[in-house]
Amino acid sequence: MPLLEIENLHASIGDKPILKGITLTINPTEIHAIMGPNGSGKSTLSYVLAGREGYEVTDGDIRLDGVSILDMEADERARAGLFLAFQYPVELPGVGGMSFLRGSVNARRIANGEDEIDHIAFVKTVREAAANLGIKDDMLKRAVNVGFSGGEKKRYEILQMALLEPRMAILDETDSGLDVDALRIVSEGVNSLKKDDMGVLVITHYQRLLDYIIPDHVHILADGRIVKSGDKSLALEVEKSGYGDFTNAA
Ligand SMILES: Nc1ncnc2c1ncn2[C@@H]1O[C@H](COP(=O)(O)OP(=O)(O)O)[C@@H](O)[C@H]1O
Ligand SMILES: [Mg+2]
Repeated sequence: MPLLEIENLHASIGDKPILKGITLTINPTEIHAIMGPNGSGKSTLSYVLAGREGYEVTDGDIRLDGVSILDMEADERARAGLFLAFQYPVELPGVGGMSFLRGSVNARRIANGEDEIDHIAFVKTVREAAANLGIKDDMLKRAVNVGFSGGEKKRYEILQMALLEPRMAILDETDSGLDVDALRIVSEGVNSLKKDDMGVLVITHYQRLLDYIIPDHVHILADGRIVKSGDKSLALEVEKSGYGDFTNAA
């Protein structure tokens, strides 16, 4: 069964149509990339998938494991196994990293009918996962994302992803604000997590990230529509000739 099905998705911000009929199916284990020029609707798509307020779906459907998620609130979607790493992660002053991570993992476990995680075991798991991503212990003690650099925020998001073990991960422009070393660590994090039947949707303006996270399918978004799909060579084509041809098509 497909993991994530986006069917004829139309969405507006206020009364401005932004997404104009996106159809995309992601199967378990697949990595898809969406590329496109600035303003083409990439971030809007990620917010609509996440269920952020202020975005209205005017037509079409989004299904996770065959079930429509349109009527689910953002936190319900997260508990159903959808994970989103945003272009601009939010700061949570006063919320300690460890308790934030434990809260989100427990919410997911309870939704799955599992017991809450053992505290000591969790601390150990977090330390190990953090070390693998080059995240220092003192960062885990600080308030979530407050005063983190762009690269640190991105590593921290991948840490959340590692602990939540989502069904479907959506990463919006995870390469922005990352130097090459951080890019490599984040990509390795994604690649090493992608062991099971998880699906990944990487949304990016640049080809660079796709040197590290190799997509099975690449889609070009222009003016709220997918104007071309192909394999990873499509990303290289864009790198060489830019988005001009595709925006003309849209
Ligand atoms: N809050 C908003 N209000 C009105 N228009 C918006 C808002 N956010 C985005 N847009 C518009 O939606 C379009 C798509 O934006 P976005 O999804 O951020 O594109 P991308 O991530 O591909 O650069 C752009 O024309 C942008 O100006
Ligand atoms: Mg964007």
